[in-house]
Amino acid sequence: MALFALLSLVFSIGCFIGLSGWLPFCKDMMELVSYDGPSSENEADEVPVFGEDSDNDGEDESLPIQVIGLVRDIVSVGKIDTKRSSHNRQNSSLATPVFLGHGREDLKINCSLGEEAANTLTELGMDVTWRLYSKLGHWYKIPDEIDDIVDFLAGKLTIIEANLGRIQTCELSILS
Ligand SMILES: *[C@@H]1O[C@H](CO)[C@@H](O)[C@H](O)[C@H]1NC(C)=O
Ligand SMILES: *[C@@H]1O[C@H](CO)[C@@H](O)[C@H](O)[C@H]1NC(C)=O
Repeated sequence: MALFALLSLVFSIGCFIGLSGWLPFCKDMMELVSYDGPSSENEADEVPVFGEDSDNDGEDESLPIQVIGLVRDIVSVGKIDTKRSSHNRQNSSLATPVFLGHGREDLKINCSLGEEAANTLTELGMDVTWRLYSKLGHWYKIPDEIDDIVDFLAGKLTIIEANLGRIQTCELSILS
């Protein structure tokens, strides 16, 4: 659900970390991004509602933006003009790096749902880091998953990277 909220944003955030989650409507999103454009007027009518303009002439980049439109439509927040000129990857949540971790033995949310979410976001052209942990249920794995998250943050957030020296110094002083 948090992922869904992320996709409704018309701006990018520093990064997103999701543990043991799933993505509602991801099949619809997949369908949309693999859609080749209308080949006849009738088919054009079957395209779900993303605003009036479905005049996408094979511009793949506009499809992920239409996914943002779809999500915003579902959660009933303001419609966006899905035309490329008014919104692009950089000023939507699509530019947000995402980390998704999941336990292989998760009985609450099957890890295949997490993987499906990761695949969908990847299909949207997002920067996705997907990690599957064995011998883990609906929980987080210490230290493996936390280490992976720290690595992810260090790699994605230059500001954290810049401060990493300071953080490590703190860690050392806590340990000693
Ligand atoms: C998004 O970026 C494009 C081009 O960089 C710009 O024309 C457009 O106004 C921006 N949209 C928003 C909502 O900031
Ligand atoms: C997840 O679902 C698959 C089939 O889709 C099943 O084979 C697997 O056992 C399930 N995993 C768990 C932990 O229930």
